[in-house]
Amino acid sequence: MNHDEALDDLYPAHLKEWAARFEAALEATGFDSAVILAGSEQAIFRDDNTYPFVAEPYFKAWVPLSHHPDSAIHFVPGQRPRLIYFQHTGFWHAPPEPPAGTWLEYFELECIDKLAAHTAALGTLTGRVAAIGPPHDELGGAMIWNDATLLAALDFRRAYKTSYEIACMAEANAIAARGHVAARQAYENDASEFMIHQAYCDATAQRETELPYLNIVALNEHAAVLHYQHLAHTQPRTPSSFLIDAGASCNGYASDVTRTYSRDSSAMQALIDSVDALQQEICSRVEAGLDFVALNETAHALLAEVLHTHGLIRCTAEEAQARGITRTFLPHGLGHLLGLQVHDAGGHMAGADGSRREPPLAHPMLRLTRTLEPGFVVTIEPGLYFIPSLLEALRASEHTDAIDWREVDALSRFGGIRIEDDVLVTESGPRNLSRPALERACV
Ligand code: GLY
Ligand code: MN
Ligand code: MN
Repeated sequence: MNHDEALDDLYPAHLKEWAARFEAALEATGFDSAVILAGSEQAIFRDDNTYPFVAEPYFKAWVPLSHHPDSAIHFVPGQRPRLIYFQHTGFWHAPPEPPAGTWLEYFELECIDKLAAHTAALGTLTGRVAAIGPPHDELGGAMIWNDATLLAALDFRRAYKTSYEIACMAEANAIAARGHVAARQAYENDASEFMIHQAYCDATAQRETELPYLNIVALNEHAAVLHYQHLAHTQPRTPSSFLIDAGASCNGYASDVTRTYSRDSSAMQALIDSVDALQQEICSRVEAGLDFVALNETAHALLAEVLHTHGLIRCTAEEAQARGITRTFLPHGLGHLLGLQVHDAGGHMAGADGSRREPPLAHPMLRLTRTLEPGFVVTIEPGLYFIPSLLEALRASEHTDAIDWREVDALSRFGGIRIEDDVLVTESGPRNLSRPALERACV
C-alpha cells in the first residue's frame, strides 16, 4: 500500500462502502457469500515464463494489493471479511512480503503457502457462493463463477468513487505528473522514444508491470497511431512533435494523462494550443446531470471550429460536423470512466440491472454513454489526428472538396494531438485531478 496517513484515514469508509455494495448485490442475486480471487499467474504457451500478472479489479477494490497472485477475499455479509494471503515457499521467485498496513485490522487474516490450502482456508462454504475472478479449476466446488447479474450490479456502482479512491487517483496523477515532466525534458534533449519512456519510468519509480497501461510515447507521425505500442531506439532526423499518453498506479487505481508538444513549427503549436483550449472548455462543462453522449457531440462541434479556424476545412464548422468530417480527425470517443482499470467497467450501463445504453452509431468507439453523477471520474481526451488511412478515405469521398488538403498534408508529419486529463464530477462542478498535479510537478 502507498503509506499515506490521509489514505489510511479514508480506507475504513471505503471498505464499508464496498462491503455494503457487495451485501446489496449478493442479496439481490440470491447469494450468501462471495469469494473474490486476485487471479493466478498465466504460463506462456510451451514456455516456463508467465505473462505479466494483472490483478482482478474487484480484489483490488477490497485490498491495496496489486501484485499478489492466488490471494483471495471471502466475504459473508455481516461478518469481517477474510483475507487469504498467499505466500509461496518456492526459491525461484520472491514470495510477497508479509502483509502490513493499518487496513489489515479490518480483515481476518489467513496466510497460506500452498494453493491446495485455499479450500481449507475458505472453510466450509455454506449456501450459494459467488466467485469473482478468473475461474480456478481447483476451487470449483459449489461456487458459481462470475454471475453476470451480480457483476452488473457491482460494475454499475463502481462508477461512484469513494473518497479513498479519489485520493488514490489524485496520487496516481501526482506520480504520473513527475513522469510527464521528465519525459518532456527528455524530448527537448532529443531523446528517442525508448529513452523518453525510460525517463518516465525513472521519474515515476514505476516499472512497466506497475503502470496501468503501456506508455504511448510517439514522436512525429507515430502520434497518428492512437495506441502506438513501439518504442523506437533511434531519434527521428527532425524530432518535431511528441505525444505522450502515460499514467501511474496508486494502490491499484489508475491515472491516464496525455500531453502533446511540438518544436520548430508555429502552425503545429497553434493547433496544439487550440486543442488544449478546447479540452479545457470541455473539462469546465463537466457536471452532474450531463449526458456524456451530448458532451461528446459538443467536443465535435468545438473541434469543427478548430478545423475551420486553422484553415483545414473549406466548409463551415457546422457543415463539417453535420457531414461527419470531424470523425476523420477524431475517431475515438471523448473519454471513459477511470478507476480500478484504465477503461473502467460500466461505461455503457443504463442501470444496476445490467441494462445498457450503446454508443450512438456515429460514435461507436465512445466508451461512456452514462449521465454524469457526483463521484464519477472520467477522462476528457479530445484529439486531432492525421491518420493516413482515414485521410485517404476522406480524400476519396464526396467530402474531399470540403478539405484544404495543402494544409492537412503539411501538418500530417506531426501525426496528431491528444490532450487528456482525469476529471472528478462533484456536487459543485468539475475537479481536474491532472492539471494541478502537472503544475505542481513543473515547479
Ligand atoms: N491511455 C488509453 C486511453 O487514453 O484511453
Ligand atoms: Mn484515456
Ligand atoms: Mn490515455
